[in-house]
Amino acid sequence: MKRPFRIAVTGAAGSISNSLLFRLAAGEVFGPDQPLILQLIERPEAMEALRGMAMELEDCAFPLLHNVRLHDNIQDGFSNVHFAFLVGAKPRGPGMERADLLSANAEIFSAQGRALNDYANPDVKVLVVGNPANTNALIASRNAPDLSPSQFTAMSRLDHNRAKGMIANRFGCNASDIRKVAIWGNHSATQYPDLHHATAMGEPVWPELDPKWVDEEYIPRVQKRGAEIIAARGQSSAASAAQGAIDHMRDWYFGTPDDDFVSMCVVSDGSYGVTKGIVFSFPVRCRYGRHEIVQGLPIDEAARKRIETTEKELIDEKAGVEHLLPAETEAAHLN
Ligand code: NAI
Repeated sequence: MKRPFRIAVTGAAGSISNSLLFRLAAGEVFGPDQPLILQLIERPEAMEALRGMAMELEDCAFPLLHNVRLHDNIQDGFSNVHFAFLVGAKPRGPGMERADLLSANAEIFSAQGRALNDYANPDVKVLVVGNPANTNALIASRNAPDLSPSQFTAMSRLDHNRAKGMIANRFGCNASDIRKVAIWGNHSATQYPDLHHATAMGEPVWPELDPKWVDEEYIPRVQKRGAEIIAARGQSSAASAAQGAIDHMRDWYFGTPDDDFVSMCVVSDGSYGVTKGIVFSFPVRCRYGRHEIVQGLPIDEAARKRIETTEKELIDEKAGVEHLLPAETEAAHLN
């Protein structure tokens, strides 16, 4: 029998985790023969709810689930973990400005970065889901000087899947028939869902599309899908966010097919002229547990403008938390 992977999940009593944990334990991320130890982390106030979650996990009698540990502190929670899903974050409260939200989360994610640095397995792979996800991932990475920035990613896979789902609907095919959609930039309403490289059943979609529909319907709809879901169900996306997290980590671990790519927010190395050091969603391919930005995609003038808009938002977010970012480390320059 394989040795179990240790998986940390923060915000483990929340809505996304309510889908994520059960599918993780069922083997949907790391495969049907990989045992797991779940190290679930919550705020002290939510530990009772977390105990309820643990009881339900136990009651499923998942064959792969070796153990479930409950933690109200990140030092124990991140101890020796191989993978970390950082789902918990401070939500925007009444009267709270975006800057306040950024700062509140900056404190949480700088502490989490330090704890991952000091307690996690040195090869830990980190996915930040909690918003503002890109800047939270940047903060965590910068506070983990002994880990490579490439070990920190944020989630744009939900946006990627949304983009795929909507275009599949348009072409009357399955989402699995759609390849090479790309999300550029921030996981926010400035993101750029790019169809220039996409194919449906092997054929390029771009020549079949009305540019007015792409600009005025498709792009805004993907960008604002989160708000559309909140308006419809009175709650933010949870099951689809969990699916995004599952897809992201599974592909990072097992790899992506050669004839496709996925979208992941990773620390920019300057590819496509995007400012180095910000956490930006790019089209990526994964192999042997590493992600690599897809190079050489043609970018036209209109796409360039959209990429610059979302890049500017991330530069501004970074400026808002600059005082909480330690100086860049040697490791950061190596990547
Ligand atoms: P939720 O409010 O249902 O659950 C969040 C949980 O996190 C709560 O149980 C809370 O006690 C816990 N928590 C808060 N701060 C914590 C901390 N410092 N340490 C440990 N636990 C902490 O929220 P939900 O729906 O599960 O969403 C979680 C986050 O994911 C939110 O920030 C949301 O905006 C974000 N999100 C991101 C998406 C993406 O595509 N990147 C998509 C959908 C949501």
